[in-house]
Amino acid sequence: MTILVTGGAGFIGSNFVLDWLAAAGEPVVTLDKLTYAGNLANLASLAGEPRHRFVKGDIGDQPAVEALLAEHRPRAVVHFAAESHVDRSIHGPGEFVQTNVVGTFRLLEAARGHWQSLRGTESEAFRFLHVSTDEVYGSLSESDPAFSEATAYAPNSPYSASKAASDHLVRAYHHTYGLPVLTTNCSNNYGPFQFPEKLVPLMIANALEGKPLPVYGDGRQVRDWLYVGDHCEAIRMVLARGRPGEVYNIGGGAERRNIEVVHALCDALQALRAREGGYRGLIAYVADRPGHDRRYAIDARKIRAELGWSPRESFESGIERTVRWYLDNAAWVAQVRSGEYRRWIETNYGKRA
Ligand code: NAD
Ligand code: DAU
Repeated sequence: MTILVTGGAGFIGSNFVLDWLAAAGEPVVTLDKLTYAGNLANLASLAGEPRHRFVKGDIGDQPAVEALLAEHRPRAVVHFAAESHVDRSIHGPGEFVQTNVVGTFRLLEAARGHWQSLRGTESEAFRFLHVSTDEVYGSLSESDPAFSEATAYAPNSPYSASKAASDHLVRAYHHTYGLPVLTTNCSNNYGPFQFPEKLVPLMIANALEGKPLPVYGDGRQVRDWLYVGDHCEAIRMVLARGRPGEVYNIGGGAERRNIEVVHALCDALQALRAREGGYRGLIAYVADRPGHDRRYAIDARKIRAELGWSPRESFESGIERTVRWYLDNAAWVAQVRSGEYRRWIETNYGKRA
C-alpha cells in the first residue's frame, strides 16, 4: 500500500511526508512541480529511504498523474499542491486559477479514473483528502462566532476564491460520482520549512538581519495560529477515520493579532539570540494588503468530538520551537532566499513604505 502526496516538497506537505514516514506509515510517492515554494532540501533527510519516491510533475498534467496512479495504485491521495500565498495572488492571480482550480480538477479526474478501476476492499478503502484553508469562509468581525463547517463560503482574495472553487469541485465529485473525498479547512500554520515570504518566517529572517519588520495596516488583524506538526497529525486522523464526504475544520485555538505574533517572535529571538536594544524596535508599519481579511477563527469542535484531535503545541511553545529551528537552519534560509525571492520582496514591499 502506498499514498500519493501532492505538494510534498512545500511547507506543510514536506512536514507531512516526514512525519508520516517517521510514524512508520506506508510508502509515499511525492508529486511536486517544484515551484518557487517547493524545495527538495525539505526532504533531504529522506535520502536513501526506500519508502519514499519523489516525482517532479504538475497535478494539472492529467496523463502523467494517471500513469503515476496506475503504476503505484495508491490507497489515498493527500492533496497539498497549490499556490498558497495571498499577496502573490494579488500580484498574479492567473497561476492560482491554473493550479488551484484547473490543477485540482485534473487531479480529481485522474483520481476518479483510478478509483473506478479499483475493486472490492481496495475501492472501499480509497480516499482523496483535499487540504484547504479557513480563508474560504471570508472575514470575521471581533465578535462573530468562529468558522464552523456550516459557515457559508465568502472568499475575498484570488487565493481564497481559487481554494473555494477547488473545495466545491471536490464536494461535487463526491456527490456526483461517489468519489470518497475528505476536505480539511485549516487555519494559519507555522513551523519548520515555511518559505520566508509568510509572516512568521519573514519576520524571523528580517529580524536576524536587522531589517525592518513590515506590519501591514494597523497590525490588529487576527489569525488562528497552529503549529504545522499538529496540522499533520489532524490530517493523519482524518485520513484514517474521517467520514467520506465530510469537511473537518482544523484550528489552533490560538487567536492572536498580527502585532502580538510579531512581538512574540521578537521576544523569543531576544531570549535565544539577544540583540542590543532588542528586536521590537525594527517593527515598521507599512501600507495594508488590499482587501485584507480582518479576522479568522476556527471552531474545531467537530474534529475534536469525532476524531479526538486537539493541538499538542501551545502558541508559546510552538513559536519557541519555530524560532529555534530557524536559528539552527540558517543555511536552509540562505538557500531559499535566492534571486526569485529577492524579486518578490521588491515586488511586494517596494511600494509599501
Ligand atoms: P507551499 O506554497 O509552501 O507549498 C505548495 C507546494 O505545492 C510547493 O511544493 C509547490 O512546488 C507545489 N505545487 C505548486 N503548484 C503545483 C502543481 N501545479 N503541481 C504540483 N505541485 C505544485 O504551501 P503550504 O503552505 O505548504 O500549503 C499547502 C496546502 O495547505 C495548500 O493547499 C494550502 O492552500 C493549504 N493550507 C495552508 C495553510 C498555511 O498556513 N500555510 C493553512 C491552511 C491550508
Ligand atoms: O488562514 C490560512 C492561510 O494562512 C493559508 O490558507 C495560506 O496559505 C497562508 O499563506 C496563510 O494566509 P495569510 O494571508 O493569513 O498568511 P501570511 O503569512 O501571508 O499573513 C499572515 C498575516 O500577517 C496577514 O494578516 C497578513 C500579515 N502580514 C503578512 C506579511 C507577509 C503582515 O502584516 N506583514 C507581512 O509582511
